[in-house]
Amino acid sequence: MKTFTLNDGNLLPAFGLGTWKSQPGEVNDAVKEALRIGYTHIDCAWIYLNEDEVGSGLQAALAEALIQREDLFVTSKLWNTFHDPADVEQGCRQTLTALGLEYLDLYLMHWPVAFRDDGNLMPEDESGFIPLSELPLSKTFAAMATLKEKGLVKSIGVSNFSVSKLEKLIAECGIVPAVNQVELHPYNPQPELMAYCADKGIVLTAYSPLGSADRPDSMKGADEPPLLNNQVVLATAEQEGLTPGQLLIAWALTRGTSVIPKSVNAGRIAENLAAADHELSIAARQVLDEIELRYRYVSPSGWFIPGVTYEGQDFWA
Ligand SMILES: NC(=O)c1ccc[n+]([C@@H]2O[C@H](COP(=O)([O-])OP(=O)(O)OC[C@H]3O[C@@H](n4cnc5c(N)ncnc54)[C@H](OP(=O)(O)O)[C@@H]3O)[C@@H](O)[C@H]2O)c1
Repeated sequence: MKTFTLNDGNLLPAFGLGTWKSQPGEVNDAVKEALRIGYTHIDCAWIYLNEDEVGSGLQAALAEALIQREDLFVTSKLWNTFHDPADVEQGCRQTLTALGLEYLDLYLMHWPVAFRDDGNLMPEDESGFIPLSELPLSKTFAAMATLKEKGLVKSIGVSNFSVSKLEKLIAECGIVPAVNQVELHPYNPQPELMAYCADKGIVLTAYSPLGSADRPDSMKGADEPPLLNNQVVLATAEQEGLTPGQLLIAWALTRGTSVIPKSVNAGRIAENLAAADHELSIAARQVLDEIELRYRYVSPSGWFIPGVTYEGQDFWA
């Protein structure tokens, strides 16, 4: 399995299993099956509300020696209600307890947005957000760095950070995140962010690489373009002897990003892993690079309040 060396010297397996939307009753088996067939990297988050069952899958695999802890790479993410430096360790410890682990390999700040810890997982109105002026992201990230010192996490990074947010974070706390996990696929290739992260030594992880078709309808735009049905993707996959999903995974890896497709289906879990070793032809990569349609599947626009949750005109800039 290809790995990336992070800027702190730790190794990140390039390919992993996503677990967002993986339901209780199915994610235990999915995680265990993935580890049985050779996955080494599992992507989790507190807000997926399934970390206890992901944990039971991890524990079953470890107990049956399908994998050893030192060969396993587990990522999780600090939820937006834990941004206060006084709450960061509690958020991390809740995840560790649910997963049944003593440490995380990678801990990410899930969003560059802070919520008040008022009993709601998502704000009901503007008063549920903590303005950046009150609680800068750099304070949260500095608190995450102390988790490393305590041995609770091996590496720290961020998620959903744009170039300007990364620049500000690094300038304010002097810590370069090891990873930035963002939405990347042919409809949202983000070349400027890729160039910036390459320059800073930040590894990008591609989320929603297959177009996240199982998102709830409430998160979907009207007339959303399904990535897996794109005619160029379908034709190129056939030429390469791959399924469309495999093509998109191979494309992500060929671009030098890590990639974490989600599946709870044993056949697709194996299908996706088989793509991790595929050398994509230059021609196939180019054809996907040239897709012009732009679409972002994950963009909770209700959270983007200029002057509160970000400073500029565009949350993603
Ligand atoms: N940091 C963040 O803010 C953030 C945001 C979004 C996602 N993520 C992470 O990234 C992971 C992946 O993104 P995602 O879950 O949004 O979407 P995704 O991986 O792009 O797509 C998942 C969907 O594709 C299906 N699928 C899986 N393999 C397939 C294949 N080979 N062919 C056809 N369909 C296939 C899955 O169904 P089955 O399960 O039935 O196979 C599911 O419906 C998440 O699970 C999560 O871990 C992080």
